[in-house]
Amino acid sequence: MSILLTLFQQALLSWFQAEQRDLPWRRAYIPYQIWISEIMLQQTQMERATLFFERWLQEFPDIDSLALASEDKVLKCWEGLGYYSRARNILQCARILVRDHDGIIPSDPKSLLALPGIGPYTAGAIASIAYNRTVPLVDANISRLFARLFDIDIPLARAGKLLWQKAEELVPEGRARSFNQGLMELGALICTPKNPACRQCPLQPFCIACKEGRIAERPIPQQGKAIITIEMATGVLAHPHGNGQFFIQQRLADDVWGSLWEFPGGRLKAEEAPEQAVIREFLEETGFTVRIDRKITTTTHHYSRYKVILHCFHCLLDTRESEEFPDPILSAAQEYHWVSFAELADFAFPAGHRKLIDFMTQPSG
Ligand code: ADE
Repeated sequence: MSILLTLFQQALLSWFQAEQRDLPWRRAYIPYQIWISEIMLQQTQMERATLFFERWLQEFPDIDSLALASEDKVLKCWEGLGYYSRARNILQCARILVRDHDGIIPSDPKSLLALPGIGPYTAGAIASIAYNRTVPLVDANISRLFARLFDIDIPLARAGKLLWQKAEELVPEGRARSFNQGLMELGALICTPKNPACRQCPLQPFCIACKEGRIAERPIPQQGKAIITIEMATGVLAHPHGNGQFFIQQRLADDVWGSLWEFPGGRLKAEEAPEQAVIREFLEETGFTVRIDRKITTTTHHYSRYKVILHCFHCLLDTRESEEFPDPILSAAQEYHWVSFAELADFAFPAGHRKLIDFMTQPSG
């Protein structure tokens, strides 16, 4: 092994030892906790993930308690983190682990990759961070760090093979837990996307882009992905008996926002007004004929590729007082409930609907 490589590894390991953040899953390195934290961190900022992680452990302290939980409870605990397929996969995975693996998370990347929701990154993270197996790891932070360290002159989206190869060459035998986390930590704290703190970087003596004065040009900027705006409309339908209840339905399991609860509604068709969309969607999804009582608010939520604008209305059932009001005929949902305001807190809603509920719960809403 080259002396340079040993010096590089030592520089990173010493820095991580001294500077690492105190994160809850770094105290005992319990595989279950590493798995959950890594899935949470995939699309979520560290501070937010830490908050949700602590709450999650209160509800589901181990794999057995998780495997026994209902999907509703798991989704509720995930509400606010978004990308709900992560939560559904975690539950499915826990049930498989209890059924087929004695409730133990495997330590080798190949067995890990066979589990739902576990790709190359998560498999590498669990194997190295939970079990200290000598395997490489590449995430967005490490990719940016490597782009500068090795002065990579192609966009990162096309550099996957090279990045994993570099990670493999660098990871020291028996020290992968600290080394891989050290790389990520350095990317998060020092080798940041904007204004990296090169003067405080323990790897500066090894960094080609720094030596060549090309830090600002690395990584090569990616083609910005266009954000697509989606306009939707939804209706909060009051119970016709005036008992303060509202109609909610649970989306189909394999749909977008699968198994989450919502007020009926959907995407606006071309040239369609939001009010028309609500009336049409109610009829299609529940068989109810509704009329618009008043506008409540418009919520906006940003996803990585989409911006969703949600027009929200208060609706009434279009039946006469004397008429029996019908049961819904659900076409886009697996279940429905009439619930009070207070009960809305017990169900998991997509972000736009949760914002609507928060708006209605404000004194002025
Ligand atoms: N990002 C994702 N996982 C991480 C970890 N274990 N340490 C630092 N940053 C991370």
